[in-house]
Amino acid sequence: MTQITQTRPMDFDTTLAARRSVRGYLPQELEPALMREVFSLASLAPSNCNVQPWETHVVSGTALRALGAAMTERAKTGKPAAPDVPMVGGYTGVWRARQIGSAKALYGAMGIARDDHEGRTEAFLRNLDAFGAPHAAFVFLPEPFGLREAADLGGYAQTLMLAMASRGIASCAQGALSLYPELIRAHLGLAEGPKLIMGIAFGYEDTSHPANAARTDRAALEDLVSFHA
Ligand SMILES: Cc1cc2nc3c(=O)[nH]c(=O)nc-3n(C[C@H](O)[C@H](O)[C@H](O)COP(=O)(O)O)c2cc1C
Repeated sequence: MTQITQTRPMDFDTTLAARRSVRGYLPQELEPALMREVFSLASLAPSNCNVQPWETHVVSGTALRALGAAMTERAKTGKPAAPDVPMVGGYTGVWRARQIGSAKALYGAMGIARDDHEGRTEAFLRNLDAFGAPHAAFVFLPEPFGLREAADLGGYAQTLMLAMASRGIASCAQGALSLYPELIRAHLGLAEGPKLIMGIAFGYEDTSHPANAARTDRAALEDLVSFHA
């Protein structure tokens, strides 16, 4: 297999355009120095009063595969998931339309038909193994923080993913990796308290994986931003 080495960081606009959710990975792990570099860059994210309300646990290699297997087994029991922060779900209107658009792009790329429930379940379960990525970062919101600080955490996550993208490292933010926090706490020996908000799969893209052919678009600027004079 071709060894992938660190490239020169891309410029900012190229990085923004290059980042997308990658759902198929090569087994190659990041060099430890590069790992530290991207997480150091992520910590430059702003936060209210600079409290930096995030706590990150990176899980790699066989430890991640074991965790993925446990989460997949748990999901297959059919028992309801118990995330620290409940999912809203049931999107309507424009939110639903955008959700359908992203699902169409992904399942279309993977050749999974709308009525192929088994195929969709299989595709969903790949989430729980972080899409086979060699690493996943689990990002927690410490106590007693809530909605406002979760916004800071979102900025941190995006800063991290952009730092990675600029260096040719692929990623995918995953709400799905927050569905079974009790298993993650048990595997990592973590205490109750901090709320798991998301996982982020990362590593080097397997460009031959069909899921990675998916592309999403964005709403028109006028639908998202109002400029007031
Ligand atoms: C907080 C967050 C949670 C997400 N959760 C998932 C997930 O569980 N599974 C998944 O496949 N993609 C997930 N995504 C990726 C989105 O589907 C993706 O960002 C969106 O469709 C836009 O596509 P792009 O990232 O390729 O630009 C998540 C993204 C964010 C920011």
